[in-house]
Amino acid sequence: MAKRRGFVYPSSEIYGGLSGVYDYGPLGVKLKHNLQNIWWESFVAAWDDMYPMDTAILMNQKVWQASGHATGFNDPLVECSNCHSRLRQDHVTDDKCPVCGKTGTLGEARQFNMMFETKIGPLANELTVRANKDVKQGDVITWQKDSSGKPAGDVVWLRPETAQGMFVNFKNVIDTFSPDMPFGMAQIGKAFRNEISPRDFLFRLREMEQMEIEYFIEPDKWEAEFENWREGMQTFFAKVGLPASSVHELEVPEADRAHYSQRTIDFEFNFPFGKAELAGLAYRGDYDLKKHQEASGKDLQYRPKDGSKPFLPHVIEPSFGLDRLVLAILSSAYAEDEQGGEKRTFLKLDASVAPVKVAVFSLLKNKPELVKKAREVYKMLKDELGSVEFDDNGNIGKRYRRQDEIGTPYCITVDFQTLEDNTVTLRNRDTTEQQRVKVEGSLQMLKFFKW
Ligand code: GAP
Repeated sequence: MAKRRGFVYPSSEIYGGLSGVYDYGPLGVKLKHNLQNIWWESFVAAWDDMYPMDTAILMNQKVWQASGHATGFNDPLVECSNCHSRLRQDHVTDDKCPVCGKTGTLGEARQFNMMFETKIGPLANELTVRANKDVKQGDVITWQKDSSGKPAGDVVWLRPETAQGMFVNFKNVIDTFSPDMPFGMAQIGKAFRNEISPRDFLFRLREMEQMEIEYFIEPDKWEAEFENWREGMQTFFAKVGLPASSVHELEVPEADRAHYSQRTIDFEFNFPFGKAELAGLAYRGDYDLKKHQEASGKDLQYRPKDGSKPFLPHVIEPSFGLDRLVLAILSSAYAEDEQGGEKRTFLKLDASVAPVKVAVFSLLKNKPELVKKAREVYKMLKDELGSVEFDDNGNIGKRYRRQDEIGTPYCITVDFQTLEDNTVTLRNRDTTEQQRVKVEGSLQMLKFFKW
């Protein structure tokens, strides 16, 4: 349904797709936008001490050497000597290959770094020129080499988390804004992981989007701040309409925590394939600032305004995966029932995240006076509410079914009675009940409902 209705398409589908990569279609983009906006309103706009960032996906490779990702961002991988499948070791439960079923064919685990590598600058030290005004076609030119004799082009990684872009800008933000403690940096952006086995639709992707906050605190305040953020994250999940009964907190044991974390809570969600991590809250201590201070040789300490001793702030990091959030929202909103003896599929989306808030219909397409009136109602609502759709195609039942399937909370229909008494029908998606309301009243009612 996600594909049929234009939420999500497999990437490069006409060429057979690309594993672990998806494209968002028009309705998926709107849903994602709504989620980003609620996150922004909750964690950036509502705060005085939050500094939003938009940092580059490509960064100096020294960032990842210092952060520990170049050496520590690994998944153990095993290969089957029979079918040559490569599998994450933690996805293999015994010595039987889950792909070909053979026993005793799985080799020793090897560490596999999950960062995507590319090269910046010229890719090789020799290139054949195809067309350039200074050289003849077919000439071979040799590119400059760096001091070590390597071609000047160098390895860069696509960032596996947005977090590091904020840590390496910590000094810029304190120099420009002189924030008081505590303060945060926040960013929404793409991150890339060469997952060994991408799976479960939007759950484990190779290209994904994160919404992350690095909240800088005084070291002795970490427990209280951690607790504040734990509650803040729960409030956010409720705001976007995730049922509280489907969100579970998991205290991650030390052995399973990321290399930088001293405490982690995973917020797990009841996905259709089982309970799994939706978002994370980590106490990163001063791990990152310390590593970057050592590696860059730059002083990254915070200087308190009262003149007391400079120190490296500690960090609480709430991290949300936007694609997993979309999957959680879509899968928990998906519902089926029976209406008038027919099976109906609908998305019980919270109005705040629904891609379309209201749809306006003209009962018939071939009655110009109805269409004109419906257009007027549509324009009035669109000016006020934004995400409003107009539809006069096909029969009214089909139009309702489409709006139900994309999660539109209300539909308004202009019919012949509208022309007489300026009333319309207002239909509720979940109950399918309709009531007649005055056109002006419909706007008041819709404004009153929670968006
Ligand atoms: N900066 C901290 C960090 O990146 P993480 O637990 O590795 O921590 C944070 O990732 C969130 O990003 C996860 O809770 C999840 O929502 C999302 N995420 C991680 N890997 C993902 C993947 N392969 N596909 C989709 N989302 C992913």
